[in-house]
Parts: sequence; structure tokens; C-alpha cells
Amino acid sequence: MTMETMTNNSAKSMDDLVALCKRRGFIFPASEIYGGINGFWDFGPLGVELKNNLRDAWWNDMVTCPPTGPDGEPLSIVGVDSAIIQHPKVWEASGHVAGFNDPMVDCTETKKRYRADHLVYDEVNFERQGEYDSLGLLAVMEGEGHEETWRRHAEKLIKKAGGGKLVSGPPSYRFVDLPRDVQVTVIGPDVDVPGTLTEPRMFNLMFETYVGAIRDEEAKSYLRPETAQGIFLNYRNILDTMRVKVPFGIAQIGKAFRNEVTPRNFIFRSREFEQMEIEFFCPPEDARKWYEFWCEVRKNWWKSVGLTDANLQMREHENEELAHYAKSGCGCFDVEYRFPFTAPGFGELEGVADRTDFDLKQHEEYSGAKLKYFDQERNEHYFPYVIEPSGGLSRGVLALLCEAFTPTPDRKGSKYVMKFHPRMAPIQAAIFPLVNKDGMPEVARKVYDELRTRYAIQFDVKQSIGKRYARMDEAGTPYCFTIDSDTLADQTVTVRERDTASQERIGLDRIGAYLAEHIG
Ligand code: GAP
Repeated sequence: MTMETMTNNSAKSMDDLVALCKRRGFIFPASEIYGGINGFWDFGPLGVELKNNLRDAWWNDMVTCPPTGPDGEPLSIVGVDSAIIQHPKVWEASGHVAGFNDPMVDCTETKKRYRADHLVYDEVNFERQGEYDSLGLLAVMEGEGHEETWRRHAEKLIKKAGGGKLVSGPPSYRFVDLPRDVQVTVIGPDVDVPGTLTEPRMFNLMFETYVGAIRDEEAKSYLRPETAQGIFLNYRNILDTMRVKVPFGIAQIGKAFRNEVTPRNFIFRSREFEQMEIEFFCPPEDARKWYEFWCEVRKNWWKSVGLTDANLQMREHENEELAHYAKSGCGCFDVEYRFPFTAPGFGELEGVADRTDFDLKQHEEYSGAKLKYFDQERNEHYFPYVIEPSGGLSRGVLALLCEAFTPTPDRKGSKYVMKFHPRMAPIQAAIFPLVNKDGMPEVARKVYDELRTRYAIQFDVKQSIGKRYARMDEAGTPYCFTIDSDTLADQTVTVRERDTASQERIGLDRIGAYLAEHIG
């Protein structure tokens, strides 16, 4: 594997990553002993630590110690933790009851259901007697095995055209809207002939539930499909209690629920997931400035937690892609990450949207509450505009896992190393006695006891040292300290560094300082 394929993620196998996540306790299928439930996942002991580290880093860097604004002053950002179930009118006002729909198609042959707007397509280019030609566009609905279906059909078309060799595709996995003016055959991913897909129908993604004992229309409510609305609902309370002045932000991290038509790609698109969102309120005329500011801040933040620049890109939404609330603003930028299943393309990690004054106006109209801001300096009431950086916490964990996942065919003992940024690593260090005798466990235990309240440390005496290193490589532990017979003689220990497997000796009394220097 070359350096390039390693960093651009295309050579990484999702099957191997999913297996490692299971084997090492990062992520398990939800309800596994009952056969699982599509679109739901549980985080295991290492996964929850990784997720908490990402969550805490976001909260710290955005709320507790917020970024410095364009004027050199730290931003004013406060947090909330709102209820998941809110008054059902909230979702009418927000536009979700009427507009939070995905087009779906059914396959009459297999009875499977797909997102009509998620197509994988490419031009069928083929070569015959040294001449290159094209048979036009071929699209396959996203689904298990869609790439193989695309190739199979492309080859069929070439055969029909009199033979030749396929020179393009199969296309990589991408969510795309087909150009409207192009004639194209669309095929379900699990069938062999076109014509089995129904016309698209709209499907609302919100999970419904009933509040109280009587299950009628009056009692119907929804699990929130985004954390953002809980922020708008508390905007008035924050203004009245927190002495904030526009521009300021309100942040929230929490669960969101969407009954996705096709949950897919491990935890990339699931039905229950976590978001990290800021609604940043600013004067309407400054919206563009703050929009650009947040695009820059958010891309750099993802780099600071370990995603490489080469695997990140910013992509501006086309007009027809914009959500209903962003239509009249300056738009939406996605921070995209090159996941192994999108490579060489990219998939959305976070959206930075200009929501304008859409939400506050809607809530004022539907609730009757006064939601205009009174600007004392301007002596004027107005609806602030809202710039919204909205990131996926669960999807962010997936990006960290994909970035860290490194096959190491040449390393003795470890098939894979998880190269997490030290700030993200679920276990920061491990302390091993080389053997479980000769006074070594006692020394190791003493070091462990001294450090365990400051760092996420594991103490392990079982199995050979090679196996213990391999376990820590797959857990992504940046440093292992081994107490051996020399330690007893000269008070030094071996430090093994995860990414290179290189070893050096340092003083026994230097372990704490070493960790402070390398981890913080
Ligand atoms: N409040 C705006 C909003 O919710 P979104 O683009 O629908 O915008 C924001 O979602 C982020 O939430 C996405 O960039 C993605 O990281 C994450 N996300 C959305 N749907 C998801 C799903 N089904 N599974 C996992 N993460 C999801």
C-alpha cells in the first residue's frame, strides 16, 4: 500500500474496520442477540470513550473556550440541553411536518425500498477495435452491491451494442441528483432488469410518538429530527437570563432521530444519532461575514481532532440541494470527509448553513411569543439572522475511526493500528510488567496507581508482551510503558510509540512528565 492510498482512505476496507470495531468494543449492532435492528448501533466501552472525547473537545473548543471572532474578541457562546420531545406545533413551525421528506421508490420485484435521490451513475464508455465510444448514462439506485449491478448492466449494454471492453466505472459511491435533461436507465441494485421501480413517493422522516395515556391525534408528537429547534425554543429564555448580546451563539449536543429510508454504511446514516450544533445569531447584514468565519473555523476544528487536510474538503450546495430554511440566505457549505466508501469522492460530515431569520419568524408566528431582538445600540427591534454549523457527532466518530484505521501488514503481531490523535484516544497509555513475576507487577502497579486519576490508563499483566502491544495498537493507545528486569536494576522503563512501534528508554520517574509532554 503506498502512502497516497493510505492517506486518501480508498484502500481501507470497511468490512475490516467494522470487524475491528466489534472485536475491540468500539461499536456493536443494537439488539444484536435478536438479530439487530436496521439503522441502530450501540457504542461499546472504547467507542463511548472515543465519542465522549470528540464531544468534550467540541464543547470545550466551541463553548467553554470559544473561538476568537474576526474582531479579536472571544465569541459569546452558551449551551443548552433541551428535551427530545417538544410541543408538536414546533415541528409545524419549523417546516418539518410538511417538508422533512425524502423521495422513496419501491422495487416491485424484491420489495426493497430505496432513496430516489440517491443514485450512483456514470457514463458507459467502452473500447472496440481501438476505438472509444459511449453508450450514455447508466444509473443504479443506491443499495447493497450497487457497484456490481452497475458494472453488470454496463457490460450487458456493450454486448447489445455488438461487443467491446468497458473502460469506465464502476462509479464510486456518491449521493447525486441526476442532471434533469438527461435520458437515463435507472435500475434497482438488487434486480437484473429495468422497470421494477415504482414512481417516487414522499416519506416523512420523523418518528412519531404519543404523549400521555390516550393515543389520538391530539397526543401525537415527534422525536426531534435535529437538535437545532430546541435552541430556537430557548432563544428568548437565554436573552432574558444570560446578558448575551447579538452576535452570540447557543450550542447543543444531543440525540436526533430520523426514520431514514436506507440507513447505510455502518454509523454514517443511522436512524438514531448525535449532533453538535450551534445557532449563531447575528445582525442580518453581517450574515455573510459570519458564514465565512464559521466555514473556516469548522474545517480547521476537524483537522485539530486528527482528520487530515487531504481527506477534507468544503463543498457549496447547489441551489436545489438547499434545505427549506436556507433558501433565502447565502447558502450552505458542507465540510466533507473522504470516507472509504465514498473514496475517491467525499461524504457530508457537517453543514454550515445560513438559516436567515426563518426559524425565529416561524416560531413567533406559530407561538405568538415575541422573538424580535432589541438592539440597544441601534435602538431597533429586528429578527437576527442565524448561521448554523451543524456537525454529526456519530458521523464524526466514524470519520475518526476511518482516519485512524491503518492496516500494518509489515508489523509483527499487529494487523491494524488505530492512529487516533492523542486527544481522542480512548486509552491514553498502558502500563505492562514484562512478565507477571520477579517484582515487576508491583512496580508497574505503583506507576499505574500514581497516574490513573490523571490519564485514561490500562494496567495489563495477561498474555505475551507482543499480544498486549497488538491489543493496544487496535485500541489506538498512543504509548505503552513496559517494566522489565532492567527497571529493577536502573530505574528505567521502555516507552513504545504506537504509530512507529519504536521504543526508547526513559526514567521510571519520568513517565508522568512524558505523558504531560505528549498528551497534555
Ligand atoms: N440542523 C441542521 C441539520 O440537522 P443536517 O445536514 O440534516 O442539518 C447535520 O444534519 C449533520 O448531522 C450532518 O452533517 C451529519 O453529520 C449528521 N447527520 C444527519 N443525518 C444523519 C444520520 N441519519 N445519521 C448520522 N448522522 C447524521
